[in-house]
Amino acid sequence: MRIKEHPILKFEHGKKVKFYYNGTELEGYEGETIAAALHAAGIRTMRESIHLHRPRGLFCNIGNCSSCLMVVDGMPNVRVCVEKLREGMRVETQRGKGELK
Ligand code: FES
Repeated sequence: MRIKEHPILKFEHGKKVKFYYNGTELEGYEGETIAAALHAAGIRTMRESIHLHRPRGLFCNIGNCSSCLMVVDGMPNVRVCVEKLREGMRVETQRGKGELK
């Protein structure tokens, strides 16, 4: 879900780009955060907690809490709430502490 109109705010976004979430092709806008694109696609789980494997998603949304860590282009522990979306990115749910691929 995206907010497209607002009575006092104006939303501008970059060109549409494709990226991959756990192998599924999705679309977002260049320049928005990965988390915003995933949220717009209805995806709320970003990682699993280390010990109990519980789902974790957005919490602070400003890069402070580490609740949104994901594997991006093979690099674990990327805070997707502050990482900008680019064409062709491969984003995966992080399990545990994450491992370099
Ligand atoms: S939601 Fe807190 S660091 Fe991303």
